[in-house]
Amino acid sequence: MSPLNRLALFVSQILFSIVTPPLLIPRIAKIRFTRSLVSFCFGRAYGDRYRHIIDCFEGRYGLAMAEGLGRAERIAGRQISVVADCGTGTGYAAGQAAAHFPHATFMAFDIVPAMLVQARELAKESPAKHYFVQADSFAIPLKDASVDLLLAQNTMPCFTEFTRVCRPGGILLYADSSAGWIADLVRRMVRRLALFEEVSGERVDLGFYVLAKKQGGREGEANDAKREKPSNTRSLPAR
Ligand SMILES: C[S@@+](CC[C@H](N)C(=O)[O-])C[C@H]1O[C@@H](n2cnc3c(N)ncnc32)[C@H](O)[C@@H]1O
Repeated sequence: MSPLNRLALFVSQILFSIVTPPLLIPRIAKIRFTRSLVSFCFGRAYGDRYRHIIDCFEGRYGLAMAEGLGRAERIAGRQISVVADCGTGTGYAAGQAAAHFPHATFMAFDIVPAMLVQARELAKESPAKHYFVQADSFAIPLKDASVDLLLAQNTMPCFTEFTRVCRPGGILLYADSSAGWIADLVRRMVRRLALFEEVSGERVDLGFYVLAKKQGGREGEANDAKREKPSNTRSLPAR
């Protein structure tokens, strides 16, 4: 890895490790100023330069999400037919997920229209069906309990709204590409929100993912989740 990319990743690790925990506190995340700042810094300011940031990771950008997607597929693969990607950006996470769930319908949301243009371009290579909608993750234009799998990577963690649109037994996969240092803290904070029946997660390479399952669901899923073996990455300890 080039020294410049190494420096960029180090800065990104520090930045996301500082910014993410306060955003997990709904009272702070909901403030208009916070939302505007986040959508500016992590959307409008980058525009079509964001894919160069992804390139700096030299293949490591989606490792945590990939691990989480593998896990979601093992837990509920057969039941995943509607996927929402909130704060989709270039559509990177949706693209990864489409390889796991090629028969699913993907709904991609972003507050910045220019990002949706990029996501639409990327989805041309996808085997799945994709729709793109400009929307704030705090007000997702979907009915309650209509999504089987919700993805949110390196974006605003609007967990209350994410839970609303997830169906009972649905899965929320929240991933971060660079803040692996705070993986354990984030998992505990998501548990404290008390919105999900099960919350687990792992640090993966530079980042982490948190997989949260909404209460309820179809028969057999809970047992599937319990039977599922942990992967070879470092598991976060149970509380
Ligand atoms: C850092 S990019 C990450 C994009 C993508 N999820 C990925 O993993 O590559 C963050 C994205 O979240 C979007 N975003 C920020 N705040 C948002 C909000 N309140 N609602 C919807 N999208 C938002 C930004 O416009 C930007 O496209």
